[in-house]
Amino acid sequence: MINVLVTGANGQLGNELRLVAAEQQKTCSSAIRYLFTDVTEQDGVETLHLDITDSEAVGRVVEEKQIDVIINCAAYTNVDAAEDNRELCFRLNAEAPRILAAALKQRDGLLVHISTDYVYGKELYNTPCKEDMQGTPTGVYGESKLAGERNVISSGCRYIIIRTAWLYSEFGRNFVKTMLQLTATKPKLSVVFDQVGTPTYALDLARVIAHIVENGMARGNEGIYHYSNEGVCSWYDFTKHIALLAGNMECDIQPCHSSEFPSKVIRPAYSVFDKTKIKQTFGISIPYWTDSLKQCLERMDLML
Ligand SMILES: NC(=O)c1ccc[n+]([C@@H]2O[C@H](COP(=O)([O-])OP(=O)(O)OC[C@H]3O[C@@H](n4cnc5c(N)ncnc54)[C@H](OP(=O)(O)O)[C@@H]3O)[C@@H](O)[C@H]2O)c1
Repeated sequence: MINVLVTGANGQLGNELRLVAAEQQKTCSSAIRYLFTDVTEQDGVETLHLDITDSEAVGRVVEEKQIDVIINCAAYTNVDAAEDNRELCFRLNAEAPRILAAALKQRDGLLVHISTDYVYGKELYNTPCKEDMQGTPTGVYGESKLAGERNVISSGCRYIIIRTAWLYSEFGRNFVKTMLQLTATKPKLSVVFDQVGTPTYALDLARVIAHIVENGMARGNEGIYHYSNEGVCSWYDFTKHIALLAGNMECDIQPCHSSEFPSKVIRPAYSVFDKTKIKQTFGISIPYWTDSLKQCLERMDLML
């Protein structure tokens, strides 16, 4: 039996992992047991409270529950607020991964840690970023996530780090939900067209993580991987497509420059990942971003 602990199970990715685990437990009598932290809804999954910044508590849970794998979906994800909350952001995004890795190392366990395109940002790229490209964060959130990666790598624990970008889900707060609401209620909207990247449906990423963990594919393949959906778009294109799929055609959506939305954080201008490594190593194919967006909106409809 492999015991898998999912942290941040109330977040976007954590919620999708709960769905994937539930699907998996229904369809096959697997040797995987998932445990989720801090799940508020009671849906039959095994749950426990864990503050991942508390090293004693983490060590105790890993030992008592005989944890073999941790999928760390917990993070400080408010990019703007991070600028004013450096210490808390670093505790969660840099120190906590070090704590998780140290606890797992004792048991030869595996840490699947999620990172971000915000580890990049200073240069304007015109070719998709590969995993070995040096990090150049422009804000506290990106700095903290890069520090977290480095702490995991230097821990000596077995690890898979997956950098993802533009994450959305039917759960939690995200760009898709905001734009669904705005394009349904506003007559006019300006959205930046000078930041490009690729959206990532969290359910697709959750399936890839489960595939790697459940098939024991991490051993011998430790390292950093890039994952988003396929394709490239700007936030403006993304919004146009959200409105199209939702039938919100009354809203006049116009492209604008990032300078029209002044912010404390300089956001990455080019968040396009080269995903060759994750596809080849784990034998996966990745859905195109508009197909996944359609799926997510369909699931949202089902949830209404
Ligand atoms: N969102 C994006 O666009 C994006 C893009 C690229 C990469 N990522 C990365 O992808 C991962 C998942 O992101 P997400 O959007 O799913 O995150 P999210 O929805 O913001 O969820 C984060 C979770 O972390 C939990 N958490 C906060 N402090 C904690 C602590 N001390 N101990 C335990 N849990 C704690 C939160 O719990 P509460 O619910 O109790 O607050 C929440 O459930 C993160 O590593 C993030 O950096 C996200």
